[in-house]
Amino acid sequence: MRAVVIRMESALLAIILTSIVALSFLMNGNATGITSTFIRSEYPSVDIPLNNKVFAVPRGYNAPQQVHITQGDYDGKAVIISWVTADKPGDSKVQYGTSEKKYEFSAKGVMTNYTFYHYKSGYIHHCLVDGLEYDTKYYYKIGNGDSSREFWFTTPPKIDPNSHYIFGIIGDLGQTFNSLSTLEHYMKSAGQAVLFVGDLSYADRYEYNDVGLRWDTWGRFVEQSTAYQSWMWSAGNHEIDYMPYMGEVTPFKNYLQRYATPYLASGSSNPLWYAIRRASAHIIVLSSYSPFVKYTPQWMWLEAELKRVDREKTPWLIVLMHVPIYNSNEAHYMEGESMRAVFESWFVQYKVDVVFAGHVHAYERSYRFSNIQYNVTSGYQYPVPDKSAPVYITVGDGGNQEGLAGRFRDPQPNYSAFREASYGHSTLELINRTHALYHWNRNDDGNKTAVDAFVLHNQYWGANHGKRKLEKHNVRKIMMDEIATH
Ligand SMILES: [Fe+2]
Repeated sequence: MRAVVIRMESALLAIILTSIVALSFLMNGNATGITSTFIRSEYPSVDIPLNNKVFAVPRGYNAPQQVHITQGDYDGKAVIISWVTADKPGDSKVQYGTSEKKYEFSAKGVMTNYTFYHYKSGYIHHCLVDGLEYDTKYYYKIGNGDSSREFWFTTPPKIDPNSHYIFGIIGDLGQTFNSLSTLEHYMKSAGQAVLFVGDLSYADRYEYNDVGLRWDTWGRFVEQSTAYQSWMWSAGNHEIDYMPYMGEVTPFKNYLQRYATPYLASGSSNPLWYAIRRASAHIIVLSSYSPFVKYTPQWMWLEAELKRVDREKTPWLIVLMHVPIYNSNEAHYMEGESMRAVFESWFVQYKVDVVFAGHVHAYERSYRFSNIQYNVTSGYQYPVPDKSAPVYITVGDGGNQEGLAGRFRDPQPNYSAFREASYGHSTLELINRTHALYHWNRNDDGNKTAVDAFVLHNQYWGANHGKRKLEKHNVRKIMMDEIATH
């Protein structure tokens, strides 16, 4: 009789556990992940030759080149306009206004230059243009006389939970024909600003004076987009440029001289990590290659910045970093583990919507999983479905000269929803405070093809709104209670 009771209890326990696991998967929208078998014919992974027109120096003596803009403040009412003059310093003035050819206002910037081995940079100008109106098209002019150049940009809408906005997400771009394909496809999209997840020029694949030279060509290559809309920068390993064999040991030297970020506006002490708010999004940029463990400046800044996030004003919480912390490609496998151990619990606690990373030259998207229960004495050692966790997206597939990362780990882990070794870029359309539309766009031969697409439900305003007082990881707690009871 006792044996029958025990068998019945065991059967009941099995049913409960099976139901809980099934419920957990359903609640997280989980299903078997997809490893795409698509193979495209790609352009050779070689950099575009220096004499190609995409690198052309603009006409005119000392004409501004490598023009790029980025958000210049915390909330989107300022831009930093940067450019290079090759022959002489010139001035760092920007003339601007809301009508074409009528420049009512002007702002004065700063100029700098530097050496890298025997390479001497041009004169690099950074000019903050602030006090702008939201949602307004501005025209601007830089340079002097016949060599002056004119561009325009549109400021984002005001900070509002329902502001509509479209971000492009690009990573590991480089300067190959694949890079050009990605850039052209992105420019055909409706993207209004770019979240760049690191590894810009791949100039560090060169030696000696060619390093600086390839930073210059990259600046001219991307100008077709970067002069007209803000690109938010984050640093990858190819920005480190640690080259002791040629006496260059200051990390990020080329990158920091050329690409400004509005780090002071978010209370950061370092341009490599910072935050901005734009339309309905709060965007946090982290540095995978700067200290981030407890008590370091980046850790302390992030702890404070996450407390400043107000989902009532900016419902969408987006994190950028270079090294992915959930990725199942053989390339760079587990390199993000150290940052995962430090920051993942915050991402879950603050219900980050999505984490974008690059580094791995293939595309991958995760389900909502976390591994925060694990510790060195006990706990679950495998990632588990977690409704509070972000979606992790690796979009390190811009097209650089190192080629694709074609080998994924087999079997595909549970957290991996979709993965494909192709070049491409993503777009994230924030529709309102509850819904966003996400696309990953593969570079098919000559065409942009939306391959991975889904509706992203906001982690704060979405289905769980009003239920946030429920205990986190409720499903797991029920399961543990059941095990303890039996
Ligand atoms: Fe990288």
